[in-house]
Amino acid sequence: MAILVTGGLGYIGSHTVVELLNNGFEVVIVDDLSNSEKFILKNIEEITGKKPVFYPFDLKRKELLKQVFDAHPIEGCINFAAYKAVGESQAKPVDYYENNLFSLINILQEFKERNISNFIFSSSCTVYGQADKMPIDENTPLKMPESVYGKTKQMGEEILIDFAKAYHRKISLLRYFNPIGAHPSAKLGELPIGVPNNLVPYVMQTAAGIREKLNIWGNDYDTEDGTPIRDYIYVVDVAKAHVAALQKLMNDQSEEGVIDIYNLGTGKGSSVLEVVKAFEMANNVEVPYQICPRREGDITIAYANVDKAERELNWKSETSLEESLRTVWEWQKYLNSRNS
Ligand code: NAD
Ligand code: WQD
Repeated sequence: MAILVTGGLGYIGSHTVVELLNNGFEVVIVDDLSNSEKFILKNIEEITGKKPVFYPFDLKRKELLKQVFDAHPIEGCINFAAYKAVGESQAKPVDYYENNLFSLINILQEFKERNISNFIFSSSCTVYGQADKMPIDENTPLKMPESVYGKTKQMGEEILIDFAKAYHRKISLLRYFNPIGAHPSAKLGELPIGVPNNLVPYVMQTAAGIREKLNIWGNDYDTEDGTPIRDYIYVVDVAKAHVAALQKLMNDQSEEGVIDIYNLGTGKGSSVLEVVKAFEMANNVEVPYQICPRREGDITIAYANVDKAERELNWKSETSLEESLRTVWEWQKYLNSRNS
């Protein structure tokens, strides 16, 4: 029995593949390498001593996907594959809707026809928008996200809820807050393809001298130091939550289907300036920065209530911000060594 991991060579997917292999699962990866690189597969093999099956194709190619299901006894899927750049999604809405939703629907067609259950979806805290109350629990009302990217996440959730209800299947919607960090081996991490949009990769590249200065998008927010607050969670902790969520679905004997929804965060908020200072302290490096105007679409504050995942998955984030940021710097050193 195997687990299909789409986007399994990507940032969160690769860390999750390692955790799955370490927990005895067989893994079949489909990744078209649109935002990842082949050496990640070799590194997964080095870390685990195991060889996942890998297919390099685009999930929109239905006929190829069918062949994967014909060739392997797929028992569940963790669907990471998606385009994820918020700004780009505004400029290329059709591409984002097509990629993020057609891929999902193609897999669900196979699940439907072959009577397979156990589907885990990479959702995002973006579905809450700026919530009225902190911390954000799973019952917080959803707000239609402003970005096309965010809309694909909210639509994906709705498609899956309808799927679970109609066909009595088991699904888990995992709403990630802000995953950061790299594998302790320094062989997996977030690949810097193009100019980073997210804070931590930008901080990493600034410390490494690849970027001159970090632009801090606004210090006039209604927070203690004026910079926005997020819930930064270590990527290996996120990966472990997937294994726990999958095991829960697989152990559930319900005939009616299951719709699980969990926030994956630490429960603690950190401001942009706090992240910069923590990075400097953790790694003994300097991160030059300048204060710039606000970035359009940014919210002031978001951090999770994670009681539900702790209670039902027996999971919680274990890694401090400083420790996570140390792994980021080790990853940058590894990338430097690859380039030299
Ligand atoms: P990533 O870009 O590193 O990984 C996605 C992987 O999917 C890439 O390897 C890419 O090559 C692959 N892919 C994309 N479209 C594909 C297609 N049509 N067919 C086959 N492969 C395809 O992204 P990530 O940061 O690992 O994110 C994983 C998932 O988690 C995404 O769905 C993302 O939207 C979601 N998410 C990420 C974050 C975050 O901050 N990183 C936060 C919330 C949710
Ligand atoms: C964090 C903070 C920025 C870069 C995005 C997506 C969201 C979700 C997570 C997937 C903000 C500030 C950033 C920089 C900065 N992804 N910042 N200078 O905004 O929480 O959300 O990633 O689902 O959908 O929108 O994360 O890392 O982009 O920003 O000052 O160069 O860092 O303004 O306050 P965010 P982020």
